[in-house]
Amino acid sequence: MGIERPEQTCVFGLGWGDEGKGKVVDLLCPAFDIVVRFNGGANAGHTVCVGSETFALHLLPTGVLHDTAVGVIGPGVVVDPMALLAEIDELAGRGVDVAGRLKISDRAHLVLDYHKIEDQLSERAAGDEGKIGTTSRGIGPCYADKMRRTTAVRFADLFDDKELTPRVRRIVEAKKASFAAMYEEDGGLNAQTVLADLAQAAQRLRSNVCDTTQFLHKAIENGKSLLFEGANGVLLDVDHGTYPFVTSSSTGPHGIGPGAGVPPQCVTRLIGVSKAYATRVGAGPFVTELKDALGERIRRQGREYGTTTGRPRRCGWFDSVTCRYTAQLSGATDLALLHLDTLSGLDEIGVCVAYRCDGQTLRTLPASVSRIERAEPIIEFLPGWQEALRSVRRFENLPKNALDYVDRIEMLIGVPVSMVGVGPDRSQTLVRGALQSLVKSAEPVGSEK
Ligand code: IMP
Repeated sequence: MGIERPEQTCVFGLGWGDEGKGKVVDLLCPAFDIVVRFNGGANAGHTVCVGSETFALHLLPTGVLHDTAVGVIGPGVVVDPMALLAEIDELAGRGVDVAGRLKISDRAHLVLDYHKIEDQLSERAAGDEGKIGTTSRGIGPCYADKMRRTTAVRFADLFDDKELTPRVRRIVEAKKASFAAMYEEDGGLNAQTVLADLAQAAQRLRSNVCDTTQFLHKAIENGKSLLFEGANGVLLDVDHGTYPFVTSSSTGPHGIGPGAGVPPQCVTRLIGVSKAYATRVGAGPFVTELKDALGERIRRQGREYGTTTGRPRRCGWFDSVTCRYTAQLSGATDLALLHLDTLSGLDEIGVCVAYRCDGQTLRTLPASVSRIERAEPIIEFLPGWQEALRSVRRFENLPKNALDYVDRIEMLIGVPVSMVGVGPDRSQTLVRGALQSLVKSAEPVGSEK
């Protein structure tokens, strides 16, 4: 009998990012051979605690903190090479050597200086009313260049110096002209800086760049186990999210096909992560947002500040309309409900069960942002609990009201809640059902904060 392998698995956020995916990946990754990023770029932020140290990862798959895992950055990721090198160097300085076990797709696109400049110029020009509230990491402009096809640079292009240099000079000139026309400045863009970054990336990352699609297919053939890490969150998905207040990639398991080159039917365990309440950074509609002292209390108690930008997160009640929608479209098999402990001490806890908009009751998310903005949440209040949850280690030992709250969410979403978070430490994660066998053998390296 061979060793029993876990199902190929994807962990992804069901909200607007920051759901605490890092903690779930950290718990599971020792059971997997390969950890894969398939979307987004350095806009993502996963915080993992290892002993007394905290690591904030933006581009690397979180699972690489576990030193037996091979990390893969797939073709769907947009890679800022300078940010990646800084992350690799920082980890190396802290005793985690990932350079030797990292594979970067030769099809992945590069985020360069002009993308970050454009991100900032365009947000500034849009003003407070029109801006998206991006992370300024150049994500949107890089994906736009990818779709435009004439002004993109991929890792495969890096090693052809003769062709690359004149092409990059042409792109930089075109960008300068376009910035000057649109924003009346060129943002300090300089071809030399871009070329120097590319030369450094070519030199330092050469041995990491390969055909990751073939690598992953071979790995599957050889019985290896793969853990796909979704970045951002499904409500930020470019096709299905609260457009235009979204990021520019496919953020759920549906992004694995294009973003990693692995057919969707290969990945059968789909773990959607949500908090026991809702948060959002950046602009855009948020029906259950609490703009009062209660929202502030959740922010303080849950330490709700962005990993990538440090911005305070907007906080609100759990929204079953959006969560049911994202769980449905991503085919979630399991729900991980984190930060349940943050809600301790409230007399009652709200759950949004539907929206009221323009005289109608809505149970699904409208496409139009202005409709979502006009929507009022229909809130069902459940009794809260006063007990601190951080020492609870089993589902059945949760206070009755906390267990009822979890059961209600399970019923509203229609997906089993297989994990509950009751604190930042790895031991503060309660697991039940099919995920138990995955976590059992795992000896995680840290925990999410
Ligand atoms: P961009 O991805 O930087 O273009 O930003 C677009 C929107 O997505 C903004 O509202 C960001 O705050 C949000 N965003 C992007 N990535 C994340 C994430 O990992 N967590 C939370 N919000 C994110």
